[in-house]
Amino acid sequence: MKHLLGLEGATKDDIYTFLNNSREMVEISSRELKKVPALRGKTIVNLFFEASTRTRTSFEIAGKRLSADVINFSASASSVSKGETLLDTARNIQAMSPDVLVIRHSSSGAPHFLAANLPQTSVVNAGDGMHEHPTQALLDCLTLVQHFSKRQDGIEKLRVAIVGDVLHSRVARSNVWAHLQLGNDVRLVGPTTLVPDAFALEQAFPRGNKAAQLGKLSVQHDLAKGIEGADVVICLRMQLERQNQHFVPSLEEYSHEYGINERILKRYAPECVVMHPGPVNRGIEVSSEVIDGPRSLVTTQVSNGVAVRMGVLFSVVAGRMEEAGKSL
Ligand code: NCD
Repeated sequence: MKHLLGLEGATKDDIYTFLNNSREMVEISSRELKKVPALRGKTIVNLFFEASTRTRTSFEIAGKRLSADVINFSASASSVSKGETLLDTARNIQAMSPDVLVIRHSSSGAPHFLAANLPQTSVVNAGDGMHEHPTQALLDCLTLVQHFSKRQDGIEKLRVAIVGDVLHSRVARSNVWAHLQLGNDVRLVGPTTLVPDAFALEQAFPRGNKAAQLGKLSVQHDLAKGIEGADVVICLRMQLERQNQHFVPSLEEYSHEYGINERILKRYAPECVVMHPGPVNRGIEVSSEVIDGPRSLVTTQVSNGVAVRMGVLFSVVAGRMEEAGKSL
């Protein structure tokens, strides 16, 4: 694999291959000396056209732990602010021969566009608009692998509720693809404006996937019913920056109807763990009591972000070398 653009079309085996690579990287990250020479002499450019804390930092740490040279590009401080197009910016960067471009962009499809136009460089999607955020879903899965290590079916046959602004969430989309491949029961939970029923149909019969291999996808507009018996609740942030109209009457009302708190979890999903990709809007999509409490896997998610990105960076460079008949 030369690029990682999304998890749509990834098979269960692909997902486990990524997770197994990442597990080795977890071990490296736990050492006193957290550096291996795997990508020495390789150059990684982090092209971030949208705000990021966790994703950008963890891609940078991941590249450095593999001994690559890592360059961070921020759109506001570049010629993009002078009117340069995405393709021109990327072509200029490619002229400096980087091995990997990690891109975050507000336009869905931007990483695919670069991958199609920059043949000599591996492209990794760090979040494209409302479309996909594959490394986030992989780090979420790795966190669940660790949490459910003693469970007979591991991270398969789980009940996963994804709650909140599903419509605008790339994290939700990538997680849906992953969990359907794992055969999980995925419930999309939120108001009709943010979880339209058509979404479920569109996702349940994806191009190139055989429906028989997939888990179950359902839509639920009632929070209690949606999380009932869930093993995992993934909370999503309200993506106000992507909303061009009022999708909910007010954040207070949204929080009242769909906010995750300990009271509702105790009653409907007493055993569940809670995840959140960050940034968390405390008191809106989830209460502080839950996010700081014993069910929360949020800090482990962030730690695993480094390992997963190390695994992905290594895989795409190795994949590109293999394609060129070389070895790393
Ligand atoms: C998410 C993103 O940017 O898509 N955050 C992240 O990468 N950790 C989710 C969000 O912004 O709400």
